[in-house]
Amino acid sequence: MAEQRASTVTITIDGKPVQTRRGQTVLQAAREAGLYIPHLCDWPGLTPFAGCRMCLVKIEGRRGMDTACTMPVRDGMAIISASEDVREMQRNVLEVMLADHPDRCLNCPRYQRCPSFGPCIRDDVVTIRCILCPKHNQCELQRVVDFLELRRQRFYGPRRTLYLDRSNPFLELDMNYCIFCARCVRVCDEVRGRSVFSLSYRADQALIVVGDGVTLAESNCEFCGQCAQVCPTGAIMKRDSIAPNPVDRSTPTVCAYCATGCALHLNTYAGRVVSAFPNADNPANGEAACVKGQFGYDYCHHPDRLAAPLVRVPQPAPVLAGVA
Ligand code: SF4
Ligand code: SF4
Ligand code: SF4
Ligand code: SF4
Ligand code: FES
Repeated sequence: MAEQRASTVTITIDGKPVQTRRGQTVLQAAREAGLYIPHLCDWPGLTPFAGCRMCLVKIEGRRGMDTACTMPVRDGMAIISASEDVREMQRNVLEVMLADHPDRCLNCPRYQRCPSFGPCIRDDVVTIRCILCPKHNQCELQRVVDFLELRRQRFYGPRRTLYLDRSNPFLELDMNYCIFCARCVRVCDEVRGRSVFSLSYRADQALIVVGDGVTLAESNCEFCGQCAQVCPTGAIMKRDSIAPNPVDRSTPTVCAYCATGCALHLNTYAGRVVSAFPNADNPANGEAACVKGQFGYDYCHHPDRLAAPLVRVPQPAPVLAGVA
């Protein structure tokens, strides 16, 4: 009988031993061990895509570099993600990605100090400030730039000048911020089964297209909002979460609409619900919710809503004429 292979394997990542399961990718093993390998197209649960090339690592005994998001772990594997040559390769990949990306939020020395939508005090030609991206300060691309300390930009291509899609009250698409990670394509296809997005055209004409070139409102989108959750940049945003939209409290709760019982976080500001997000820690729904859970919270503040339970007050029995 063939010897059964152990289901756990031990690898090292930058010299740190990591125990993981056979069948995991290097990126999954690193994530579970709390080690960060830069990545932009990978998302837990989605088919690996290997489109961004951000997760390049060196594996001892192999030539060149491999993408950590597609490389399965092997017992004894030694992975290097933090050497200077690997970091330099990751920076090169990032620079190419940024060649047609709005970059003022990345290279302005004041970008961490300016409040969102505040006036620019550095450039007198800029009246409403350069950082208008709705994802500013929550952006995964910014996080990778900061992590890799990328402070140069050698490549500049033409900037995209695409129209925003504001055809519906729930989501806003601004594909000028898209980095073609295809997370939206995969989550809508693999998780929601709606296949609204596709990756179309090539090279500098590449574009995420809705349906066959329609608006989101005209497509078969069900407005579950999951594409906005996975989008690393400001390309797909929930409209109720676009800055300036302050939140002073987030409360875990359960959606009140149907028996699925999706767990949500309700974000409030000054006592009013301003947005809702699925509570990913809950096994009932994970990162998913439907349009009602994600966007249908305004009934909380409807003036006709009962704010206290109705109590039935016992009444004296009616006296019926002719009944003894
Ligand atoms: S998507 Fe991120 S990196 Fe790009 S402009 Fe917006 S905040 Fe900046
Ligand atoms: S909101 Fe949901 S259904 Fe609509 S495009 Fe995004 S993931 Fe697909
Ligand atoms: S829209 Fe967002 S999720 Fe979709 S490919 Fe572009 S950056 Fe990625
Ligand atoms: S989010 Fe949608 S599916 Fe989930 S409990 Fe609410 S209504 Fe039901
Ligand atoms: S995360 Fe591995 S190639 Fe994008």
